[in-house]
Amino acid sequence: MRIFSGIQPTGEKHLGNYIGAIRQYVASQEEAEPVICIVDLHSITVAYDPEDLRESTLSLAALLIASGLEPDRCTLFVQSHNPDHAQGAWLLSTVASFGELRRMVQFKDKSEQQEFISVGLFTYPVLQAADILLYQTDAVPVGEDQRQHVELTRDIAERFNSRYGETLVVPKVVTPKLGAKILDLQEPTKKMSTTGGTAQGTVQMLDEPDVIRKKIKSAVTDSGREVRRGEGKEGIENLISIMSVATGEEPEAIESRYEGAGYGDFKADVAEAVVELLAPIRARYRELRDEPAELHRLLAVGAEKARAASGPTLATMYERMGFARP
Ligand code: TYM
Repeated sequence: MRIFSGIQPTGEKHLGNYIGAIRQYVASQEEAEPVICIVDLHSITVAYDPEDLRESTLSLAALLIASGLEPDRCTLFVQSHNPDHAQGAWLLSTVASFGELRRMVQFKDKSEQQEFISVGLFTYPVLQAADILLYQTDAVPVGEDQRQHVELTRDIAERFNSRYGETLVVPKVVTPKLGAKILDLQEPTKKMSTTGGTAQGTVQMLDEPDVIRKKIKSAVTDSGREVRRGEGKEGIENLISIMSVATGEEPEAIESRYEGAGYGDFKADVAEAVVELLAPIRARYRELRDEPAELHRLLAVGAEKARAASGPTLATMYERMGFARP
């Protein structure tokens, strides 16, 4: 069973990234040796600062390890350290259609926020398909917002296989049962996001405890008083999911425990649960961040493992597509 996922280095990582994705990467180490890629090539598809990209790449590596990824039990690497991704993306760009890419919701959303819409932003999902397919991936753990890209990846793999012969594994998307779409605390109709959400409604993984408390206590809910999931109660439902993930308690148990209690008490407890969830990650992150040489070393080992894994698939793709190779 091959598990692969990717995460962008730029932009602060928030509770949605942790609950929807990072937590799944860490858990998957129990079943397989997951391949986790810091997708720096994807980050340059929108306006960005080169110095920030360099910093945030290292910072994300530290954050992922602090969250529980163990470099001996996974392949953790930076996308640009393995040139196979860019090559694979070019090959696959001839197997994806313009019409398919035009339908991508992430492209529509992100292009609206950009003054300059790069071709790279448009072909972004093809690079993502290359990421996944080069590793003969069976399962891709992601949050709900990435489902469409993984489905496109499946279509690209099937088309490649029917044109050139059975070559690529068709991957399946895996979203968590709870927390696949964590909502913005201030606008609980939108997903939590560093780029599209509100600052006050986004809990960053590295926020100080008091900042976390403040953001959760001021979360927008509804005019009712019942700590229950349901229609019109998106804000409360979101907090129940967050609490459930943070404490391991089932949502039903949380609902019955808070029967008759007001939103105030509930929010204060959610805040404490999140503070407890993130505190050890923050502490470990700080230690790791003080050892950049060790992080570079770990990433170099990861890149070597990644190249060894992707190389044979890329070679077969070239061969099946008819390139004259020695
Ligand atoms: P990115 O970097 O935006 O997000 C990383 C992961 O976090 C999940 N996520 C969320 N989950 C729940 N609630 C939220 N509010 C929330 N916000 C983000 C995302 O679903 C994602 O799993 N295109 C990808 C990166 C990528 C990739 C890949 C992923 C590149 N290549 C190959 C999987 C496989 C992205 O931009 O994720």
